[in-house]
Amino acid sequence: MRDLLDFAGWSKPDAEDLFATADVMAEVLRRPVKRVPALQGFTVCTAFFENSTRTRTSFELAARRMSADVVSFAAGTSSLAKGESLRDTVETLVAMGVDLIVVRHSASGAAHLVRRFAGVPVINGGDGARAHPTQALLDAYTLRAHWGELSGKRVVILGDVLHSRVARSNLELLPLLGAKVVLCGPANLLPQSLSGPNLEVSPDLDSALDGADAVMALRVQRERLEGGLGVSLPEYAARYQLNRSRLDRAGPRALLLHPGPMNRDVEISSDLAGDPRSCVLEQVHAGLAIRMAVLYHLLVGKKERAA
Ligand code: CP
Repeated sequence: MRDLLDFAGWSKPDAEDLFATADVMAEVLRRPVKRVPALQGFTVCTAFFENSTRTRTSFELAARRMSADVVSFAAGTSSLAKGESLRDTVETLVAMGVDLIVVRHSASGAAHLVRRFAGVPVINGGDGARAHPTQALLDAYTLRAHWGELSGKRVVILGDVLHSRVARSNLELLPLLGAKVVLCGPANLLPQSLSGPNLEVSPDLDSALDGADAVMALRVQRERLEGGLGVSLPEYAARYQLNRSRLDRAGPRALLLHPGPMNRDVEISSDLAGDPRSCVLEQVHAGLAIRMAVLYHLLVGKKERAA
């Protein structure tokens, strides 16, 4: 693994290899002193051109847990405001000696662009509606903690699929691990172009939920909804909000996922977030071990290959 931009070229053993490293990192995180020297001497730069709470914080914490130095580039207070380009910004950061860049950007494809001129490993922390690979890895890792194996499981991804990089990355990863993915949402937020093995598209929520082993509610991305929902938010909530009675339809053992941030009482009823079936905070916790594993594979793997 040279970069992590998406799952192109990945196989099931690649994901399992990463999960095995994440298991080791999870053990580190259970220790009284949650720090190892694995990345001592490396500098990780988080370059976020779009807001984030979970992804930026957990990458920075993951790097620090492995003794790396962290540079946190804040787009809002940077020289971008003076007209500096994305390329000049990245080349400037690399010239200061950073060893790896985690990039988030509102434009689909921005992470690939950054890779072209960075000259150091790049991790996609979410680019437009295209990909968010570490989110999908932490989602799968959370499900694996409950099920052991994802093979044969039915995972419903519900809501604003059109604008969701989380959905696209899960669509690449979950079928690779043997799960069947069912996409469900309003027709105008459900791209018909998406297709693939182990993928089903269903605008009907009740039939999508029947027999689901897990339901992932997606955030309604109001900031990207140029064409509008086609319905009002209350109408959307009435037809597609994941609430207790709908999750009950999937079953008492069905798991609930949400990548966050949640719009409570829009795509998910507020009471359901605290339901025993909810894995929302488990997902956040899993993100730390997964991001430690990704940083370790990119930086230490690279060093070993160079030796
Ligand atoms: N899930 C996710 O990417 O959250 P943030 O936008 O807070 O990073």
